[in-house]
Amino acid sequence: MSTETTVALREQVRARYAEAAKAVSAGKGGCCGDSSCCGDPSREPAFGEPLYSAAEREALPDAAALASLGCGNPTAVADLREGEVVLDLGSGGGIDVILSARRVGPSGVAYGLDMTDEMLALAQRNALDARVSNVHFLKGVIEEIPLPANSVDVVISNCVINLSTDKAAVLTELARVLKPGGRVGISDVVSEDRLSSEERAERGSYVGCVAGALSKGEYIAGLEAAGFDDVSVEFTHEVADGMHGAIVKAIRRQR
Ligand SMILES: C[S@@+](CC[C@H](N)C(=O)[O-])C[C@H]1O[C@@H](n2cnc3c(N)ncnc32)[C@H](O)[C@@H]1O
Repeated sequence: MSTETTVALREQVRARYAEAAKAVSAGKGGCCGDSSCCGDPSREPAFGEPLYSAAEREALPDAAALASLGCGNPTAVADLREGEVVLDLGSGGGIDVILSARRVGPSGVAYGLDMTDEMLALAQRNALDARVSNVHFLKGVIEEIPLPANSVDVVISNCVINLSTDKAAVLTELARVLKPGGRVGISDVVSEDRLSSEERAERGSYVGCVAGALSKGEYIAGLEAAGFDDVSVEFTHEVADGMHGAIVKAIRRQR
């Protein structure tokens, strides 16, 4: 991908999710006014807050639930423990950061990283409304995580890595910030190995979380090359022909 294409795609992603944050802040349901963000609205509930349990939704401010644009529930798979440090890549309106902060308790910390100012502002408001104080929202890109090496116990992410223009850099950064033995619990859109990049692009847009998806084999190989063991990618629900919401798990190899 040329530098111009990379810059243009990232700006399209940022603009789309800034619109989404403004729509939620204005009290509008759904994403980006009348258009969708991640996914095809006709396939709902493949995306968004219906993927959370009723108990989790009830414990969240309305705006946090409304702002949910993910394709799974990574907090349900990450097995978070009291006192741990959790990092959410592409934290959006903050739903998974808030749920994680409660799971790790006051002795733990939940970081949310996002590049979109409007999303960061929405997430801050949602965390205040949810009365969680062990959260920190960071501005930055997931390809260059603004945290030190070996500082995180668990990395979660919900429907964001498919939006990255440099997936190898993201996986390398995951390995850098995680402590040895640290865990990855990610929800993402993943394609079946049979689909070429062109076929993935025929099934949905890049900003809609479809065209940029890795295949299952690419995800597994990428994580293993970056320094992870026990890698698994499990399809949970179809979001387009041959494309699935998936749970991605891995353990940071001991150095
Ligand atoms: C589909 S939304 C998901 C938000 C949230 N994880 C959720 O489940 O509701 C994607 C989010 O990732 C952010 N994002 C996309 N690409 C990014 C990148 N390269 N670096 C940092 N944030 C990014 C967007 O600003 C947006 O808030």
